[in-house]
Amino acid sequence: MIAFHRVGLEYPRTGTKALYNVSLEVKKGEFVYVVGHSGAGKSTLLALILRRLLPTQGAVYFAGQNLRLLKGDQVALHRRRIGMVFQDHRLLSDMTVEENLAFVLRVQGVPQREWGERVFTALRRVGLAHKKRAFPEELSVGEAQRVAL
Ligand SMILES: Nc1ncnc2c1ncn2[C@@H]1O[C@H](COP(=O)(O)OP(=O)(O)OP(=O)(O)O)[C@@H](O)[C@H]1O
Ligand SMILES: [Mg+2]
Repeated sequence: MIAFHRVGLEYPRTGTKALYNVSLEVKKGEFVYVVGHSGAGKSTLLALILRRLLPTQGAVYFAGQNLRLLKGDQVALHRRRIGMVFQDHRLLSDMTVEENLAFVLRVQGVPQREWGERVFTALRRVGLAHKKRAFPEELSVGEAQRVAL
């Protein structure tokens, strides 16, 4: 499902070699942890999977496809297949919790009549239905991450 073939990543501005000769394979259904000291390259590895970065050596494959070959909206479609929770929650600060969730549905082309039910179901699942009118800055860190999830 995910494969790294001798991947290297050098950040161009500083010349930092964050990853060197990394090969790995994650199969469908596997549950994997990535551990390492601060600065080891974990976030860099995730950025390559999300295709926020391209490798400077080697290749990254997702579902058999070399991510370097994605063009235009294929990049956005690729990212939609990945659920990534960022440490900084990346919610839109000028929208309430329910508006943030409805915004995602709108971008995905979900008909407006379904938004209310789907937002409510999602918020209930993470125990936050009572926070739907809160703005992100009015949430605890853990609550904001649950909204992002
Ligand atoms: N945008 C960047 N430009 C230049 N160097 C970077 C950049 N981002 C990260 N680095 C460097 O690349 C290396 C790997 O960083 P990375 O963020 O992948 O580490 P990490 O394992 O996620 O660390 P942490 O556990 O602290 O989050 C570090 O030496 C870091 O200083
Ligand atoms: Mg990190």
